[in-house]
Amino acid sequence: MRHVISCMCILTILLCGCAKKDAKENTHPSLILRYADNQPPEYPTTKAAYRFAQLVQERTGGKVAIKIYADGELGGEKDVLEQIQFGGVDFSRFSLGTLTDLAPSLGVLQLPYLYDDDQHMWRVLDGPIGDQFLCGMTEDGIIGLAWFDAGVRSLYTTFPVRHLEDLAGKRIRVQESSMMSRTISCLQVVTEQIPYSLVYSALQQGKIDGAENNLPSYYSKGHYALAPYFFNDEHFRVPEIIMMSIHAKEKIDALDPSFGDIIRQCAKESALYERELWKEEVEKAKSALLSKGCVITEPSPEEKAKFKTAMAPMYKEYATTYGELILHIQTQ
Ligand code: GCU
Repeated sequence: MRHVISCMCILTILLCGCAKKDAKENTHPSLILRYADNQPPEYPTTKAAYRFAQLVQERTGGKVAIKIYADGELGGEKDVLEQIQFGGVDFSRFSLGTLTDLAPSLGVLQLPYLYDDDQHMWRVLDGPIGDQFLCGMTEDGIIGLAWFDAGVRSLYTTFPVRHLEDLAGKRIRVQESSMMSRTISCLQVVTEQIPYSLVYSALQQGKIDGAENNLPSYYSKGHYALAPYFFNDEHFRVPEIIMMSIHAKEKIDALDPSFGDIIRQCAKESALYERELWKEEVEKAKSALLSKGCVITEPSPEEKAKFKTAMAPMYKEYATTYGELILHIQTQ
């Protein structure tokens, strides 16, 4: 019996030692990296960022820790993009809308009415075309890791809209990108490029008559309170990505060359998690908006066709360089 007890004591001491070692590894990571998202902590993309950080921590044995800065704490998307390029921020989740000035080819993936539905978009992004785009970003000093869902974007305004003509001459906020301005200008509106965090105050101060975004953003940022008319024209799907700074990759590779693949795999898994959350979030936002008295208008097919025709010049612009690719995407 005494023998059994002393064996158990030794085992307990050994186990405690291991646990201490693990705890030590966890509390003293070799690398602490920074991840920026401009959405609030409860938003699907940010929840997926926390999942990403957790997976990376687990799978690198606690050697790599990722700290999440949500709600635009490290700046708007344009500022964060610059920081990613010089290594001040290590990871970020971006809307492709903000990236087209840096990498114009990304505009192809967000042409108006490009995809028939979300499944069509995922066939493109999860297939060779999407992979090629992720790899191609390295030329622009960033590393694309995985695609996130951001649904479909529509217009919302301070005044009721029933027809395309109702928008003529109105001031509509767009993301900070010349492609975004050109696309939305096709609707005969005046576009204003304003950072996401300033849209609410721009509406409040009457600087704009509306904006365009997906339902979860419209709801979570409270824009609905100032622009309660959501016109579901679904003019485009703007995918989002997690990206890593090249400087972060160098640091990770120097620590352990096998960690690069782990990071990529964790990003892919967190993206799948985000896509699941996204679907629920759209439904939640929709019912919350309706309960708050917002008017969500479904345009007739004829009305939607008018939007499509109005935005067709964007295809002409992109066809010169990317005609074949556009066709390839359309037939996926
Ligand atoms: C979406 C996207 C943000 C982006 C915003 C915008 O909400 O998730 O990352 O900044 O659109 O319209 O600027």
